[in-house]
Amino acid sequence: MSFLADRLNAIKPSPTMAVTTKAMELIREGHDVIGLGAGEPDFDTPAHIIEAAKQALDNGITRYTAVNGMPELQDAIIGKFKRDNDLDFTRDEIHVSCGGKPVIFNAMMATINSGDEIIIPAPYWVSYPDIPLFFGGVPVIVDCPAEANFKMTPEQLEAAITPKTKWLILNSPSNPTGAAYSRTEIKALTDVLVRHEHVWIFTDDIYEHLIYDGFEFTTVAQVEPRLRSRTLTMNGMSKGYCMTGWRVGFAGGPAPLIKAMTTVQSQSLTHTAAVSQAASIVALNGPQDFIAANNVVFKERRDLVVSMLNQATGIECPTPEGAFYVFPSIKGLIGKKTPAGKSIQTDEDFVTYLLEAEGVSVVHGEAFGLSPHFRISYATATELLEDACQRIQRACSALKD
Ligand SMILES: Cc1ncc(COP(=O)(O)O)c(C=O)c1O
Repeated sequence: MSFLADRLNAIKPSPTMAVTTKAMELIREGHDVIGLGAGEPDFDTPAHIIEAAKQALDNGITRYTAVNGMPELQDAIIGKFKRDNDLDFTRDEIHVSCGGKPVIFNAMMATINSGDEIIIPAPYWVSYPDIPLFFGGVPVIVDCPAEANFKMTPEQLEAAITPKTKWLILNSPSNPTGAAYSRTEIKALTDVLVRHEHVWIFTDDIYEHLIYDGFEFTTVAQVEPRLRSRTLTMNGMSKGYCMTGWRVGFAGGPAPLIKAMTTVQSQSLTHTAAVSQAASIVALNGPQDFIAANNVVFKERRDLVVSMLNQATGIECPTPEGAFYVFPSIKGLIGKKTPAGKSIQTDEDFVTYLLEAEGVSVVHGEAFGLSPHFRISYATATELLEDACQRIQRACSALKD
């Protein structure tokens, strides 16, 4: 009998973290590897946010805070929801945790009973199915292929809802595809949801600020106020504010749910670091113009990567609306042979070949629930991206029928 808990049998370690760690290991060992697996901006945290943290430390902001964060941070989050999403919240409707991921964890732990179903459109961010599994939840995966622009249709949503459905998890812009739902597309989904009063909606808006070509971001509670009483709107500092390592995520939602999540956190994480909270207050209340400046660079990189990948034999790469990922298809490469004589049968075979033959580290689509694809994070230096795409082109040309 194993000493470890049975519940771990259903959970796998985050595959994206595994790929990133592997690439970093190879680079440390002196291999020429370009890592395109990491889901974090390569930009540094803006200087004024770092300065705010230094000042906070000098001012003795080094002690415990309230479980749900400092009141000043809660107010900054309330201000953010009003400014960016036209959503009104009070302090007892705001949850603060150590990043977006723990917000999901707290929400699922606070609500899921064994057998509850969680609708997750695929491709999905790797943690969505695994977190509910900790609590006996049943992920209900809805396939959203490239032909549907990786988006769920109202018909698919309607068909996936059962009396056991507890949550729908919606992520726009999406990791791993970068696809984002327009207001009209969200409205089509909320028209279904208003009719199913037992279904709660978890929106992961962490890539809200990373949108291109004039795309207008909207979120469920904003589009359909009748769903506000059963929607948890999640967001955080990690992506748009370039603060992945600071560990601050938050959510706005109904007070009884927030209270339950706070109870969970009071017996686990306690709260996120006081210094990170102080920095986040300044980040949310201070100048926001660096976001648009970063997006100019991200958009250039997106266009470069999409164009270069579409020139590679056997790869088809759609242009996404947001985030910093592309999710190309390798349908055209399945069944081909590597110069070493290995057959490419799956997207995992392809990414292994890419790493071994050309030293490019990416994540296979199967990890996100849709094959045959792979994910590239283009949040890395433009010269490296260009080099990586050339290597991918070379690797694809070297495959034979
Ligand atoms: C869609 C999505 N949600 C949540 C997170 C987690 O963010 P955090 O680092 O704030 O926990 C990520 C990180 O990759 C993500 O891609």
